[in-house]
Amino acid sequence: NKIGVIFDLDGVIVDTAKYHFLAWKNLADDLGFEFTEAHNELLKGVSRVRSLEILLSIGNVSLSESKKQEYLVSKNEDYLNYITKMGPEEILPGAEKLLDNLDDLGISYVLGSASKNAPLILKQVNLFDRFKAIVDGNSVSKAKPDPEVFLIGAEKLNLSPEKCIVFEDAIAGVEAANKANMTSVGIGDEDTLNEADYNFNNLTEIPKNFFEKFLSEK
Ligand code: G6P
Ligand code: MG
Repeated sequence: NKIGVIFDLDGVIVDTAKYHFLAWKNLADDLGFEFTEAHNELLKGVSRVRSLEILLSIGNVSLSESKKQEYLVSKNEDYLNYITKMGPEEILPGAEKLLDNLDDLGISYVLGSASKNAPLILKQVNLFDRFKAIVDGNSVSKAKPDPEVFLIGAEKLNLSPEKCIVFEDAIAGVEAANKANMTSVGIGDEDTLNEADYNFNNLTEIPKNFFEKFLSEK
């Protein structure tokens, strides 16, 4: 009769989505094509390698493998310049309160992120020690929308997938949670995340009693 929560990181716990956008946009500028916020939605939740493929297809650019490697390195260096300046003030509104609420209810939570930079980011904002486990881009072989990252998260929680609730800001992430047979909560634009079981604009909108019905139902 227990439930657990799996949090995406970028765009749910911290506002790093804007830094990913800036770094990808710089790259598109270099390559000479326009990259918009709407294009960026397609990259959210998607692995670094896959993101580059999508970006190149948007610009109709083809590159050699070695050039791609170069761009992956420079995109990440660019991104890290933003990340290493982050502090706890960049935790998104409502996130810490939500974790406190879960602690009070005795509900465990883990991270389920596609990012290889997840441990660094959590340390920058002093949240590293709060999660029961961290499943990130270093521990998965198949990126979202594949459910692997969340299924490993469920294992870390010692729960079956139906007992897990996933918080996601990305289309690919909501799809992964649904494929994993978990409850999906979309954080952000409701029309963009229309496949989610529940939608909220941000974490401050989650009612304090949100988890109670799951505790009694599941
Ligand atoms: C998250 C973000 C994506 C990012 C991916 C990989 O899922 O939403 O935009 O591309 O992580 O992040 P990384 O830090 O490893 O480049
Ligand atoms: Mg995200």
